[in-house]
Formats: sequence, structure tokens, C-alpha cells
Amino acid sequence: MVADSTLLDGEDPDQVGMMDEMCILVDIDDLPIGAASKLDCHRGAGLRHRAFSVLIFDGEDRLLLQKRASDKITFPGVWANSCCSHPLDIDGEKETDDASGVKNAAVRKMEQELGIPAGTIPADNLHLITRMEYMARMNDVWVEHEIDHIMVVRADVEVSPNPNEIEDFRWVSKDELSSMADEHDAGKLVIAPWFDLIRVNFLNDWWEDIDDMSKHVDNAIHRFVEERPDRAGLSIMDKHRVAAEKCIARAIEKSTEPRLGGAMMHLIEGGGKRLRAVLPSLVGEAVGSHHKGHHDLGAAIEIIHNFTLVHDDIMDNDPIRRGRPAVHIAYDMPTAINAGDAMLALAFEMIAESTDIKDEVMRDLVRVIGRMVRKVSEGQQMDMDFENRTDEVTEKEYLTMISGKTAAMFETCAQTGAMLAGASSEIQETCRLWGLETGLCFQLMDDLIDITGDTETLGKPAGSDVLEGKRTLMAIHALNQDPSNLPTFHSIFGKGEDGASDLPQAIREMESVGSLQYGRKRAMEHHAEAHNHLSKLVDSEAKTVLQSLTDWQLERIS
Ligand code: IPE
Ligand code: IPE
Ligand code: MG
Ligand code: MG
Ligand code: MG
Repeated sequence: MVADSTLLDGEDPDQVGMMDEMCILVDIDDLPIGAASKLDCHRGAGLRHRAFSVLIFDGEDRLLLQKRASDKITFPGVWANSCCSHPLDIDGEKETDDASGVKNAAVRKMEQELGIPAGTIPADNLHLITRMEYMARMNDVWVEHEIDHIMVVRADVEVSPNPNEIEDFRWVSKDELSSMADEHDAGKLVIAPWFDLIRVNFLNDWWEDIDDMSKHVDNAIHRFVEERPDRAGLSIMDKHRVAAEKCIARAIEKSTEPRLGGAMMHLIEGGGKRLRAVLPSLVGEAVGSHHKGHHDLGAAIEIIHNFTLVHDDIMDNDPIRRGRPAVHIAYDMPTAINAGDAMLALAFEMIAESTDIKDEVMRDLVRVIGRMVRKVSEGQQMDMDFENRTDEVTEKEYLTMISGKTAAMFETCAQTGAMLAGASSEIQETCRLWGLETGLCFQLMDDLIDITGDTETLGKPAGSDVLEGKRTLMAIHALNQDPSNLPTFHSIFGKGEDGASDLPQAIREMESVGSLQYGRKRAMEHHAEAHNHLSKLVDSEAKTVLQSLTDWQLERIS
């Protein structure tokens, strides 16, 4: 776990202190949806929050630039516009009427960073021109994802920089900025990603009109968000998905019993994210060697995953999966059990028959996949047994349970993907640990979206964990709070469908005692740990896709 303490170890104490400031989280339309610490906004996958950028021009049309201090935690030592920071979740900085919140925040930060006393540039003189959404990753840990309010002001001011914030400053003409951009391209200095976006997309036009910016004012939010994490590397993922799906279809055709074959294909035809189908291939590519055997392997593990879903919906009494009736509903219970058994057998047949998997790895591969299936069963048994436990289920027990029922499959996909690529045992271990941590994050988030999502998007019944009395980490947290704060939750937990109408109130109670936030926080810890392992692999396009997939775990809604 990358604990907060180690994450900020050795950083400047003033800058660390500011990591506790609460920023304003916003939705895609810049509407506030809550608050989170500066730390949580900027680490891991990041959280979209509100920000501002001020451009101060002097009487000679020169723009003030600052070089961020080397003590800054995010983007140290880079050249940026005059002043940029975040409005905080406090009175005076949240307000959107006349953009007063971001303007007041700008006045505060111009004083703290640039030593421009409040009043020298009154909030009213700041002119909000437009907004842009952007995302920029600094490294495996730190990321920016902001809706930036860009403001312009003309002011001849004395600058007295705070060395904790600013290492250097310059007033530059349009030509001088363009020379700096050349130096940036030549690797001699670095321009901050957000300022570069402003420079390239807006500044050229604006520079001519500083005294009359009205024609540039718009109410738009210009988007400079890289491809969404789940879409990044789509072509690589698509390529492997299509290839693995062909292997799946070919394998299932083997079954000559039509009703059995139909039941086996029922969920597979219903879609799904196919994560386990593509993971071995992505990992193989990331460690340097990918071949057709990876597609057989991904197909086999995806079939096993689908087998576990067929049986899981029986165990969990869930009638819907991937937006269609579960197999035991669409067919019947005995057929669903039988189809699951056949799918498991088929997966092992596929692997044994693959001419692209070498004999030398076959024994290890079968052993590791066999272990995976056993771990899943152990996890599933714990999950069911927990429902009937009258004593407390500990967090440790919960983590053992999800390490089995869910993370074992991600762990095995990654480990075997590296194994088939002929990677060293050290690299196989790094990949295995990445898969394990990503799988833990995946299940923690899956539990969260079971509560916060809707049935249509999820393709499975929302809220069923609470009604079934599942001891998710969030439920464990809620059960440990003063019961008088969660009366509705206690009245419906584990009581089945009868409690469905009270579910929204129970969820509000869980939220008010911090249980949902707790689950998310724990998911973020495993996300950070997953990145930590991934960072040990050499850079490649496939590694970037794995990084995006890791991030996407915290964002996915289905
Ligand atoms: C569902 O996994 C089972 C869990 C471990 C929560 P996915 O959410 O990956 O299912 P599909 O394959 O996309 O439908
Ligand atoms: C499913 O866990 C794990 C396996 C299928 C092995 P869940 O029961 O939490 O998954 P969902 O929520 O039904 O997808
Ligand atoms: Mg289950
Ligand atoms: Mg289930
Ligand atoms: Mg679930």
C-alpha cells in the first residue's frame, strides 16, 4: 500500500500542508458534485475538480510567466502562466455568480504566490474568458484533471515571488513566448501542460485584443481530455478482443448438444467487458513477447470467468446479467449448472489443444489456472458463508474472500500472460502482483457501483448486495457504526427483495456515516499499489494501456 505518509515523504512541509485543502469536485458540465482533498484530486486516477488560470499582461502587452518552484509536489520546475490554482470548498470561493468564486480564489493566490497584495488587482478586474477541461499525467502517481477557468487582466504590478511557490518569473512578449515554446520542443525547458494548451489554442488570437476581450468570451467548456482511460489504446484492445472472441466461438461449437451449447453461449453473447480475454495479451505485449497462444489463453480464462458468472447468479439469486436473464432463468437451473461445468472443462481442453502454447510451459500453466479456479471457489464459499454469519466479518476476511472470488482471475491473467511471453520469474511476479492489486481494486469498486449504479447501466440488479446481506467492505464499515445512525440500513440488510423500496434511504445512511467513501478510499490504495508494480516494467504502448486500464477501475460505471 502506498500510504499517504510515504507518498508525501521528503516533500516540502508547506506544500504537504496544502494537500489537505479541499477542492471542488465538478461534473462534466462544471457543476459541483462534492469536495475532495487536493491530495485525492491529484493522485492515482485523479478526480475532476475546478481550477483557475490567470494571465496578467502589463502595459507593454507582455505576459507574466512563473517558473514553479522545485518544491511543488505536482509539476515542479515547469513554466506556467501568471498564476494558477484551485478555488476551495469554502464560502467566497464556491460561488458561480459572476465567477466570483474563482476570482476571489485568484486574488488569494496572487497574493500568496506572487506577493501581489489583495486589492492591487481587485476581483472585479479579472475577466473570465472561457473554460477548458484537460487531463495531464505527470507520472504514475500524480495527475491533473481540471475544468480550468481562464481569466485575463491588464495590470502593471510589482511581483515579489514566494520562493516556496515560484523559482523564477519573466514578463514575455508574444515572440519571446514562441521562442520558449521552441526551447520546450528542444527539451531545454518545460512548459506546463495546461499553459501549453492555453498557448496553442487561445493565446495567439487573444494577444491582439487584450483591452477588448469581449469577442473571445464564451460560455463553452473546451475539451482537451485525452481519450478516456477506458478508450485509450482501444485499437490494441480491440485487436486482442476480436482474436480471443474467435477462439471462444470456435471452442463452444465443439458441443454437439444444442441446448447445452445455447446455454453456454447465452452470457457470452450478452457482451461484457472481456477484460480477462484481453489481459494476457496486453501483459504479453508489455513484457515484450506476444503470440497466438495468448489469445487461446485469454479465451480460456474468459470462458472460465463466464462459467463462474453462470454459477454465481445461482448462488446470489440474481436474475439478470449483462442486461439479459441469467442462464438459470433463460434456461433452467439444472441446465445452468451443467452448462457451467461444460464451460470449465472446455477451457482446459482449449489450453491443452493449443498448438501455440509450448509444452515447456503447459504444466505450469495448467497448475496456475487450476489454482485460480480453486481460489475462486474458496472465495465464493466465503462470500456465501459470510451472509449467514452472526458475528463480525473482519476486513481481513473480506480481503481474503475477494482475493479469491475476483482478484485471483486478474492475478492469473497477468501472471500467465507473462509466463507465455517467456518473461523472467521476477517479471512474472511483478505482473502477478499488478493483476492481484488491480483485481482487488476492481472488486472494491464493483461493490461500490453495485450501490451507486443503476440496474440498466450495470446490467445486473443494483443494490442487490445490501438486500442479500453481502459483507462488502462498505457493509462491514456500516455495521461497525452506531446503529442509531443507520436504522433503515439495519432494517433491510440481508432481508431480500422486501427491503427494495427502502434501499435509497439505506444508501443515504451508509453515505452519511462515510461507508461509501471508505470503500472508495480502500480501492484507491490498491489502485496506487497496482501502479507501483506496473512502474517496474519498461515503457511501451501496451504498458500505457495497462496503466489506463488500472486508472479506469476507479472510473468505471459498469
Ligand atoms: C463480474 O465481472 C464479476 C465480478 C468479479 C464482479 P465483470 O464486471 O468483469 O463482468 P463482465 O465480464 O464485464 O460482464
Ligand atoms: C462474483 O462476485 C465473483 C465471481 C463470479 C467468481 P459477485 O457476486 O460480487 O459479482 P456480481 O456482483 O454478481 O457481478
Ligand atoms: Mg457472488
Ligand atoms: Mg453475484
Ligand atoms: Mg458484486
